Amino acid sequence: MKSLEKVPVRIFANDSDVSVAVAHRIREIILAKQASGRQAVLGLATGHTPVKVYKELIRMHREEGLDFSNVVTFNLDEYWPIEREALQSYYRWMHENLFDSVNIPAENIHIPRGDVSENEIDQHCRAYEEAIAAAGGIDIQLLGIGRSGHVGFNEPGSRKSSKTRRIHLDVVTRRDAASDFFGEENVPEMAITMGVGSILAARELCLLAFGEHKAPIVKRAVEGDISDSVAASYLQEHPNATIFLDEAAAASLTRMSKPWLVGRCKWDDKLKRSAVIWLSQEIQKPILMLTDEDYSENGLYDLIRECKGSYHLNIDVFRYLMKTITGKPTGENDKQKVLVFSPHPDDDVICMGGSIMRMIERGHEVHIAYMVSGCLSVFDHDVERYAEFVREFGEIFGLPQDSEVIDKQVIQFLRSKKPGHVDTLEVQKIKGLIRRKEAVDAAKFCGLSENQTHFLELPFYNTGKVQKLSISNADVKAVLDILNELQPTVIFAAGDMSDPHGTHRLCLEAVLKAFDEYVAGGNAKPELWLYRGAWQEWSPEQIERAVPMAPDELKKKRYAIFRHQSQKDRAMFPGPYDSREFWQRSEDRNKTTAQTYDSLGLPQYYALEAFVRYPLGRSAQWKDELETVKEE
Ligand code: F6R
Repeated sequence: MKSLEKVPVRIFANDSDVSVAVAHRIREIILAKQASGRQAVLGLATGHTPVKVYKELIRMHREEGLDFSNVVTFNLDEYWPIEREALQSYYRWMHENLFDSVNIPAENIHIPRGDVSENEIDQHCRAYEEAIAAAGGIDIQLLGIGRSGHVGFNEPGSRKSSKTRRIHLDVVTRRDAASDFFGEENVPEMAITMGVGSILAARELCLLAFGEHKAPIVKRAVEGDISDSVAASYLQEHPNATIFLDEAAAASLTRMSKPWLVGRCKWDDKLKRSAVIWLSQEIQKPILMLTDEDYSENGLYDLIRECKGSYHLNIDVFRYLMKTITGKPTGENDKQKVLVFSPHPDDDVICMGGSIMRMIERGHEVHIAYMVSGCLSVFDHDVERYAEFVREFGEIFGLPQDSEVIDKQVIQFLRSKKPGHVDTLEVQKIKGLIRRKEAVDAAKFCGLSENQTHFLELPFYNTGKVQKLSISNADVKAVLDILNELQPTVIFAAGDMSDPHGTHRLCLEAVLKAFDEYVAGGNAKPELWLYRGAWQEWSPEQIERAVPMAPDELKKKRYAIFRHQSQKDRAMFPGPYDSREFWQRSEDRNKTTAQTYDSLGLPQYYALEAFVRYPLGRSAQWKDELETVKEE
């Protein structure tokens, strides 16, 4: 196989498997150093990516007695200026996510200080480098990668020889951090970071990346040229660097997206479809017009040789895609009991509002289960307005009310609240209630009655913070309860593995675990279909069901989304990649899918909602297939 990858890459089915493998490697180093009576020097990263590595290390410490007393740590970076106690400081983050739960001696922990004064910075950075050298250098350095290509906070323009220093954060990085700080304007403009040179000096580098939002930058770092515009590309020059990816982050690598360009393929139906669709899009010709020459000239000679020419191949793929188009979202005429799992109280209408209305129209019994309260994404000013309303409403109609709760615990609290501070329980409840009422309103607009809406309030979400808990038995039980209560024949769930805060991913984890238990409990197995969240859409080779919408239907869907008034005009967490409103993204996405189908030579529709069927049992198989190392 001719590889375009310039650094060793290991791809796993999911982030948990990657994290366990990396934690094992760290344990190996700690134990080897212990055996020779030396210290293990770990370079550590913060952010969403390494969380599960730290969880696994904590587990090893608790359950296997892994001893950290010989461990010395150096963190990559810290915001500047920031107080150590600030909610978003990396100092605090590291203690909460690792240091408080293992026995690393406090004096062995090093994190750049965000609270040094301007004129102390240079001296502090020099001392940081000296401390790394005095510890004998870093044995293994963990790295994440930012969408700007940064490692540590080495933003575009960072030189290969750079050392620990203060740096201005890139606009993309600040946008990505916006939700942690409750608004881009609250994100510090600077940070102190180890340099590219400090990182490359480590004896071993492990860069981890998860989620499809990382796929484009991973491709540039792995397959692109070494350049200071993508600091992670410098890893290509390191003698012992490995990039660990989950399948989503690996998706843009050529061996994953267009394997036929890098070697011989085992042509199964799915791969054939991908190749035909790719070719059709690449040379902008409808599928049925592709010729043998088109295939051979674009690296697909192998495929038409295997298929004995393009004629039947084109027809097979065309027919397959034609069959995905259906006005029946359940695929059935018979009345079905449908359960739609909506992570937040608006994903249902944003992502499959057209199909929900269609199913109701066709007489199916549709229920929607909202999985989390969504209280985190309500603006404080909205709560204040509602609280004032309730108070004055009570006064007008002489209703008994505890105005101290409204005054002190709501209005006064909100007026003195600092960005990012956790809401009181009362405020969280009000925010949840606002979203709940909007969800019921939108569901009614679609044609459901209130008793067809269900609010699961999964506990993993209820931290009051952006950071969530892991999925526990209580979360799975709540999902299982609703399955047992409703006994659906068809289920829809959000198949997102990379939404900004991981809420959708966690919700899907809860659904899949409960689904397995439900089926194992002897219940008839419902069909499970996945829709995409607000952030992305299935690609044409993935789509297994495409439900057309006429212009008026799309407009109606828009009005359903509008019922989520607290998310209208400006959402609290729009995600870093797209500043449009959810209804705009949703319409654009549905119209784009229709245009894509059209350009492939399929019938022209105004808009399409897309679904894939949950491929049960595939994860385990992916693992074997995907855990491959770069081949020279
Ligand atoms: C964190 C750090 C950064 C992050 C990167 C990815 O210490 O140095 O380079 O690793 O921004 O962040 P997440 O993991 O949050 O996507």
